[in-house]
Amino acid sequence: MQCSWKAVLLLALTSIAIQYTAIRTFTARSFRLCTIPNPLNCSAVLDVELPDRVCDEIPVVSNVSRRTHILILATTRSGSTFVGQLLNQHFDIFYLFEPLYHVQYALLSKETQGKGSSDNIHNKRMVLSNSDRRMMLGASRDLLRSLYDCDLYFLENYIKPQPVNHTTDRLFRRGASKALCSLPVCEALGPVDIHPEEEDCIKKCGTLNLTLAMESCKDHEHVAIKTVRVPEVSDLRALVEDPRLNLKIIQLVRDPRGILASRSDTFQDTYRLWRIWRATGRKPYNLDTSQFLTVCEDFLSSVSTGLNRPSWLKGKYILLRYEDMARNPMKKAEEIYNFLGIPMDSSIERWIENNTRADNTSVKHKYGTLRNSAATAENWRLTLSYDIVEFIQNTCQEVLAQLGYKTVNSAQDLKNLSFSLVEERTFSPFF
Ligand SMILES: *[C@@H]1O[C@H](CO)[C@@H](O)[C@H](O)[C@H]1NC(C)=O
Ligand SMILES: *[C@@H]1O[C@H](CO)[C@@H](O)[C@H](O)[C@H]1NC(C)=O
Ligand SMILES: *[C@@H]1O[C@H](CO)[C@@H](O)[C@H](O)[C@H]1NC(C)=O
Ligand SMILES: *[C@@H]1O[C@H](CO)[C@@H](O)[C@H](O)[C@H]1NC(C)=O
Ligand SMILES: *[C@@H]1O[C@H](CO)[C@@H](O)[C@H](O)[C@H]1NC(C)=O
Ligand SMILES: *[C@@H]1O[C@H](CO)[C@@H](O)[C@H](O)[C@H]1NC(C)=O
Ligand SMILES: *[C@@H]1O[C@H](CO)[C@@H](O)[C@H](O)[C@H]1NC(C)=O
Repeated sequence: MQCSWKAVLLLALTSIAIQYTAIRTFTARSFRLCTIPNPLNCSAVLDVELPDRVCDEIPVVSNVSRRTHILILATTRSGSTFVGQLLNQHFDIFYLFEPLYHVQYALLSKETQGKGSSDNIHNKRMVLSNSDRRMMLGASRDLLRSLYDCDLYFLENYIKPQPVNHTTDRLFRRGASKALCSLPVCEALGPVDIHPEEEDCIKKCGTLNLTLAMESCKDHEHVAIKTVRVPEVSDLRALVEDPRLNLKIIQLVRDPRGILASRSDTFQDTYRLWRIWRATGRKPYNLDTSQFLTVCEDFLSSVSTGLNRPSWLKGKYILLRYEDMARNPMKKAEEIYNFLGIPMDSSIERWIENNTRADNTSVKHKYGTLRNSAATAENWRLTLSYDIVEFIQNTCQEVLAQLGYKTVNSAQDLKNLSFSLVEERTFSPFF
């Protein structure tokens, strides 16, 4: 029959498409790649031209003023929470804090049974096999695509336990998203202009209704997502080139020496051996430095890609140093909004003023990263020992130079804060 070979071909195409997304094996749910006419419905199938019909649901974008899809590409302890807040505070932006946590958690939960702290989960990435890494990136890209389209139901594939009736109280860091803590998603907290403490949101807003969240997302002009779970910018190329998206990437980097110092203080278990090194001056024989050094590798490949200005990243990429952000948050916020092509609203300005004042004890500093702003950006120099610094300088030499971070040659220079190790550099977006 005419109809049956077409049905078979469509089924084959469908199954290839589904397999391509790797995690199909993991979740029993079917994928929302693009809507394919029911292959079993012959009368419908007979009407279509097979090859280009498969993905023709992609809307042809004729209207220039379309959504901006923003991705903050960062690494843990590089100030991403702060930069995320600069977007979260904007009235037209729907912001999600690290939704890819759920992908990682779901895909790795077998290996991490019983010890699911985010610290632990975070560091799992480093020990992934190549195929696991590819699978995770494929799944991450699919999720990002769906979220930029405000399809929050897609996230349910990964939330554990699986949401019932499209509601959940397990969304990771829900409280960090202003839209998810205010009307219409949360009635208890009322108007959107006062952002509550995260714990307040969790306590008062109750269970998250994903249907309402989705509606809120659609009501916002733009969508922004922060992640520390994508290693480098090339991993996002498929999304950048996806005609359905208007992706703009803000890559946040920080001096790796500063990241190490900050992580050692924050993740005391994972960085225990580094702490021992710092305290005793002797490098523990069993310290696996390669885990931390992926920071440098990922920066190096990502930043090299960005600075080469490939045409696929034109107008889509901005590199931001944490230290510059700390020195002059207002100026950098303006640069970010210029790059995004979104007018900055006054709430951002007020928020920056409120959250970067060093000496004002009456203000609660929720977003610790820039607490004392410029003053703390180089404080790692006082906490890391010279031999650790020397070790990192040797192994991360290339990326330090690339990003304009000076090296020191003695413990004395290390501790002498009267000169900065951050060179003046301008990293402009390219169009
Ligand atoms: C087949 O397609 C027609 C027209 O699109 C639709 O009315 C009908 O419900 C479909 N049948 C099945 C079994 O999908
Ligand atoms: C484009 O978007 C603007 C503002 O959202 C709207 O007023 C206009 O009608 C749209 N044009 C088309 C062709 O859809
Ligand atoms: C889900 O919704 C159905 C129908 O409204 C209801 O019967 C059921 O109790 C709900 N389940 C939960 C866990 O709330
Ligand atoms: C979630 O919100 C939607 C839209 O308002 C509503 O129809 C639905 O009943 C709500 N779900 C629950 C479980 O309350
Ligand atoms: C700034 O801080 C004051 C005092 O804590 C607070 O009342 C106000 O809402 C804050 N403004 C913004 C924009 O965060
Ligand atoms: C501290 O912040 C509060 C609220 O924003 C403000 O009223 C006060 O003047 C500030 N104090 C100093 C010393 O900056
Ligand atoms: C600290 O650096 C400054 C500027 O390079 C230099 O003048 C000063 O002598 C240094 N102080 C010490 C104690 O090394």
